[in-house]
Amino acid sequence: MPKDCSYTEVIVPNVDSIRIQYLLKNLLSNGKHTLIVGSTGTGKSITIMNELKQSFYNDEFMYLGLSFSAQTSANQTQMIIDGGMEKKRKGFYGPALGKEGIIFVDDLNMPLKEVYGAQPPIELLRQWMDYGGWYDIDTPEREFRFTQKVSFVAAMGPPGGGRNSITNRYVRHFNIVYVEPYSDNSLNSIFCNVMEWMYRSAQKLPYGANIEKLKENIVMATINVYNDVQKKFRPTPAKSHYTFNLRDLSKVFQGMSKTNARAVVSDDQMVKLWAHECLRVFQDRLISIEDRELFKEMISEKMTEKFKKNWDKIVQHKPLLFASFTPLIFPEGDETKKPYNDIYCELTDRVKVKKVCEDSLTDFNMMYRAKKMDLVLFTDAIEHIVKIHRVITTQLGHSLLVGVGGSGRKSLTELATFIAGFQIEVIEMPKGYNMVAWREDMVKKIFLACGVEANPLVFLFSDSQIINEAFLEDINNILNNGEIPNLYKPEDIVQIIESVKEANKSNPEFKEIAEDNNRVKELFAT
Ligand SMILES: Nc1ncnc2c1ncn2[C@@H]1O[C@H](COP(=O)(O)OP(=O)(O)OP(=O)(O)O)[C@@H](O)[C@H]1O
Ligand SMILES: [Mg+2]
Repeated sequence: MPKDCSYTEVIVPNVDSIRIQYLLKNLLSNGKHTLIVGSTGTGKSITIMNELKQSFYNDEFMYLGLSFSAQTSANQTQMIIDGGMEKKRKGFYGPALGKEGIIFVDDLNMPLKEVYGAQPPIELLRQWMDYGGWYDIDTPEREFRFTQKVSFVAAMGPPGGGRNSITNRYVRHFNIVYVEPYSDNSLNSIFCNVMEWMYRSAQKLPYGANIEKLKENIVMATINVYNDVQKKFRPTPAKSHYTFNLRDLSKVFQGMSKTNARAVVSDDQMVKLWAHECLRVFQDRLISIEDRELFKEMISEKMTEKFKKNWDKIVQHKPLLFASFTPLIFPEGDETKKPYNDIYCELTDRVKVKKVCEDSLTDFNMMYRAKKMDLVLFTDAIEHIVKIHRVITTQLGHSLLVGVGGSGRKSLTELATFIAGFQIEVIEMPKGYNMVAWREDMVKKIFLACGVEANPLVFLFSDSQIINEAFLEDINNILNNGEIPNLYKPEDIVQIIESVKEANKSNPEFKEIAEDNNRVKELFAT
């Protein structure tokens, strides 16, 4: 693991993932279609992508990825696959000369069933399996087009919770591999390695020995909390979002990796940081005061059990909050003040936090007179700002704010974004706003702005803006893959490729992929 890679690039090989990768490699290189099944958060997508990168990103293979969702249509699917193929001779298509194609379909069983119980995108793929192709929809003749030399690898969760059962007539074409959820041992090894990486990459300054030795306990405590949360907070109709998976567990460590040895000097602080990340990841999702209180109890018990610390003694500033409001706020007792490099530390001086928020609000109102906000920054509002700030400054951080109207979701987000120094983009939707305008906005205002011009950006989208369900579909794709399929026009792609090349000019590793425009584009999406 390189020291300077980012958190989301850290993939720890373990017994479970190596097993799957071995099978995948052998099946795919022999042209066998493979279907990976397993419940959510078992690392299916990450393992498949990892294997494709390791063994199939080369001159012999061409990779094409698509991700299904409830609204995916057969036409979309066909367009994405056809778009990646070249014409061989009349009626015959396939990957570029001399290459085998590998098509990765993620979340295969998401598409909704139509009135007759079929799932059109899946039926289309089944037709390919049975007859080797489909009818051309671009020409009036509707000529049959064969697609050759491709194999499929797909991933899906077991039916239930929005995922449907898919027809056996399709499944029978696949070699099916079932993925077990990671055992506690594997989880332990994954996150011990992640912690190890975090300690080593701690921006030159090493952590003290008293903090280093907390590693095993932190990992154990987090896994315990994760298991307990799943048992105690069950989903019910009113609390249907009480579902927790590996991603949440991983978020706790991601949060911890945001800090460094300058902000965390004592073991008390490390334990508090751990508790804080658990609260943010798990507690913020709970919807009643009882549940929240119960969770806090759980954490404080764990704290006594694993770290021999008393919650009330070490948490002096309540509620417990960590944030990287640097260069405005520095860790307590830190006299260096520079370089600050975003230090994620406990906010001990609440008066100062309030002042930072108020000053930022004044600045905001000066800068954007038209959008002037009149906010009273009481304690809860400040707490929300800190929480939102934490999410948007986290890599791949997205948040869904739920609350009654007028609870300040929008204005607090605007302020938190302002403090973080990000741009905010709220799409205006005049009368007659449609899909074409939406796609245009997505390209110009979102992707080119943050990708090509490299502006950190927050995209704020509210429920009143969902005038077309397909918007959610696109957002789902962005969250899953970082892009919307078939979004760019050829001229946008040229611009994107140029900008990525320009930005990576001095990166030696980039040379390898600079030739292949598909991979350059992929880099853009990440
Ligand atoms: N070996 C690993 N090393 C580090 N992190 C991992 C590993 N395996 C899984 N994770 C973490 O678990 C998260 C979930 O993995 P992934 O997205 O592959 O799940 P999935 O099985 O595809 O879930 P879904 O069915 O919901 O799509 C990843 O984002 C990553 O943070
Ligand atoms: Mg997945």
